[in-house]
Amino acid sequence: MGNLAHQPAAHGALADLHERYRKVRATSEAICAPLQVEDHVIQSMPDVSPPKWHLAHVSWFFEAFLLKPYLPGYRTPDPAFDHLFNSYYETHGTPFPRARRGLLSRPGVAEVYRFRAYVDQAMAELLGRPPAEHREEIARRVELGLQHEQQHQELLLMDIKHILAQNPLQPVYRADLQAPPVVAPQRLRWFDYAGGVVAIGHGGEAFAYDCETPRHREFVEDFQLAERLVTNGEYLAFIADGGYARTELWLSDGWAQVQQGDWHAPLYWQRDYDAWHEMTLAGLRPLDLQAPVCHISYYEADAYARWAGARLPREAEWELAAAGQPHQGNFLESDHLQPVASPPAGNAPAQLFGDAWEWTASAYLPYPGFRPLPGSLGEYNGKFMSGQMVLRGGCCATPASHIRATYRNFFPPAARWPFAGLRLARDR
Ligand SMILES: [Fe+2]
Repeated sequence: MGNLAHQPAAHGALADLHERYRKVRATSEAICAPLQVEDHVIQSMPDVSPPKWHLAHVSWFFEAFLLKPYLPGYRTPDPAFDHLFNSYYETHGTPFPRARRGLLSRPGVAEVYRFRAYVDQAMAELLGRPPAEHREEIARRVELGLQHEQQHQELLLMDIKHILAQNPLQPVYRADLQAPPVVAPQRLRWFDYAGGVVAIGHGGEAFAYDCETPRHREFVEDFQLAERLVTNGEYLAFIADGGYARTELWLSDGWAQVQQGDWHAPLYWQRDYDAWHEMTLAGLRPLDLQAPVCHISYYEADAYARWAGARLPREAEWELAAAGQPHQGNFLESDHLQPVASPPAGNAPAQLFGDAWEWTASAYLPYPGFRPLPGSLGEYNGKFMSGQMVLRGGCCATPASHIRATYRNFFPPAARWPFAGLRLARDR
C-alpha cells in the first residue's frame, strides 16, 4: 500500500509531462507552418535534413522508445517508417542513409502530419493510463523525447535557413520576425576569473543529457572572458586585414577548408560592391555591425581569436563563468531567429545564453566516469565523441527551456550552417 502514497504525484508528473508534450509538439508544427509543401522536401547538403524528415523522425522517436515497448496493442501506421525515420540508432535497426533523406518524396507531407497526429493520439493513451510498473521509465523517456524534439526544433530552423538560402529568389521564411534592437558600438570589456580546481558537469535530479555527467573536478588557470560575443563589425576588420588570406592565422585543417570551400566571409554573407548583406530567415538584410558574427566554423572562430591576440574559451572556463547566471537571452521565443546586438554587460558577461552557440577550444570527449544511457538510447551522444568540438550556451533558435550552463552541444569543426559564433578568452 505504501506505493499508493506516491502514485498521485507520479500521475500528476505524467499529466504535467503530457501538457508539455502537447506544447513541444505544437511548436515543431508552428516552425514549419510558414513553409510551402515543396520546402519540406529539400535536402540542401548531407548535414541538412528535409523539414518533413525532422517532423517524422521526432515522432518515430516516441513510437520506437515509448509506444512500441509500453502501449499494449500499439500498431504502427507503416512498418517501413521504422527504417526511414531512424536517424542513427544501429542497435535498434538499420537507419535509412542520412545523405539520401531528400530522395524520400513518399510518405508525402500530409501523410507525415497524419503520422504525427497518430503518434500524439497514442501518446495520450499511454500517458493517460501508463502501466504502473513502467511509470518512472516512461516519464524518463518522455522527458528525453521532448528534449530531443526541442533539439530538432533548432535544427529545423538551421536547415530551413540553409534550404531557402540556396534559392536565388532569396525567399523570406517569415516577414514578421521581431526587428533587431539598435545598439551603439561599444569597446570590448573583459571579466577576470580566478582559476583553481573547479567542479563542472551536471549534478542533481533535473534533466540533462548523459554527456553532461558526471559532475567532476577540473583545473583551470586564471583567465579572462570577453563581456559579449564577437560582432559582425569586428569580424569585418579581420576580413579587411586579410584574415582569410593569411596562413599564419589558421590551423592546417582550417586552411585546407578555406581553400577547398573558397571561404572569404561567413556563410550567408553577400557583398554588393562595398555593402555587405546577410541572408536571414527574414530575407536578405544589410549586415548589422553590432550583432554577433554567426555561421562561422570552428576554424574561422579560432583564426579570428588568434588574429585578435586572444583564444577560444575552454569549456570548463565557459561553464565556470555561466554557472549561476540566469538563463536569459535571445532564444527561439524572442522571435528574432537571428543573433542581435547586446546592450552593455552588467556585472557578468552578456549573451552567455542565446544568440549564437559559442565555439570552445574543447574537443567533445567523455567526462571522467561518463556512462552512456543503457540500450539503444546510449547511442544518443556517446558514439559521437570523435572529431567534434564543444559549443556552449544555445542560440536564437534554441527553445529557452532547452538550455542550461552544463549543456554540451557539438559539431564538426568545419560546420558553418549552425547558428554559431564566438566569444574571446585570454590568459591572465
Ligand atoms: Fe534525432
